Amino acid sequence: MGSTILLTGAAGYIGSHTAVALAQAGYDLAIVDNCSNSSPIAVERCRELTGADIPFYQADVADKAALMEIFHQVKPAAVMHFSGYKAVGESVAQPLKYYRNNLDTTLSLLECMVQEGVGAFIFSSSATVYGANATVPYRESDPVGGCTNPYGWTKLMIEQIAQDTAAANPNMSVVLLRYFNPVGAHESGRIGENPAGIPNNLMPYITQVAVGKLDHLNIFGNDYDTPDGTGVRDYIHVVDLAQGHVAALKYAIEHTGAEVFNLGTGRGVSVLELVNAFQTVNGVSVPYEFAPRRAGDLASVWADPAKAREILGWTAEKTVEDMVADSWRWQKNNPDGYV
Ligand code: WQD
Repeated sequence: MGSTILLTGAAGYIGSHTAVALAQAGYDLAIVDNCSNSSPIAVERCRELTGADIPFYQADVADKAALMEIFHQVKPAAVMHFSGYKAVGESVAQPLKYYRNNLDTTLSLLECMVQEGVGAFIFSSSATVYGANATVPYRESDPVGGCTNPYGWTKLMIEQIAQDTAAANPNMSVVLLRYFNPVGAHESGRIGENPAGIPNNLMPYITQVAVGKLDHLNIFGNDYDTPDGTGVRDYIHVVDLAQGHVAALKYAIEHTGAEVFNLGTGRGVSVLELVNAFQTVNGVSVPYEFAPRRAGDLASVWADPAKAREILGWTAEKTVEDMVADSWRWQKNNPDGYV
């Protein structure tokens, strides 16, 4: 086994930021991504930002033969699994597409790992796995399940598959990272979130309104039981999230078994607070209208990040001001994404 960390899906938003953080922390990397919803230009920019030589394999992680070939070349010491479909609404309309892709990629990856004796597996899970009867702040020990969409179920199913694999393979180390709401971009403005089509998530929608690509923001609900009536979430800067992966990797390499960590700030921010911060910090206007609630949305979601702080020694450091400034810099400098 070598010392390289193999990253799936690292041409995407969170993977590319983590690639930069890992390279800057001194790790050797290799990336595999089929670029079905991402761009190889993101990998070039990771190389540009870090000066690192990062081998890139454009392949489908579900294709086990192709993946095994990559394992033989890379000889990874650990795997971070970012690849997967992630659009909540699309997963409701096309559930089989989501189950097929998100589960097949993970099964191929874990099979290759077990076969090749690769021990450490770090997975991009989501706060969406918490059940409706979990209460804020969400703790890792809170109940999971009752997901409102197939995307969420794939995250929970993969958590189970990875935990079972760790239980059956005593040398394995599985770290499941439950992300809250990742936003922001690398402060260089060279990598960032690049959604295809009309964004589903709040921050890319805001930036596209601000840059003039979309007319106005619809705020889904202003009658929630929250301080200003709009939904409250735990927005976390993607660079903080990336540092959380560096800490998780160190932990995974030193331990065996399976652990779950929330990666959030522990702070709830409303839609209106985020929109107002964006306008004030960046000096741009974001016209909005109140619209009906979106199906499946909760009033308030935020993390208890104590476990990651105590065990991984990691805490989110960036402010809401950093998040809105960095998201805007990326959008302004790259109005058409990676071109
Ligand atoms: C945030 C807040 C909306 C858009 C989802 C998934 C989760 C994760 C992240 C991704 C809510 C409001 C949004 C808009 C709005 N998955 N909103 N107008 O729903 O917390 O989480 O994305 O890969 O698993 O469930 O994030 O950014 O969609 O919404 O008012 O146009 O913004 O109602 O309160 P969410 P979001």
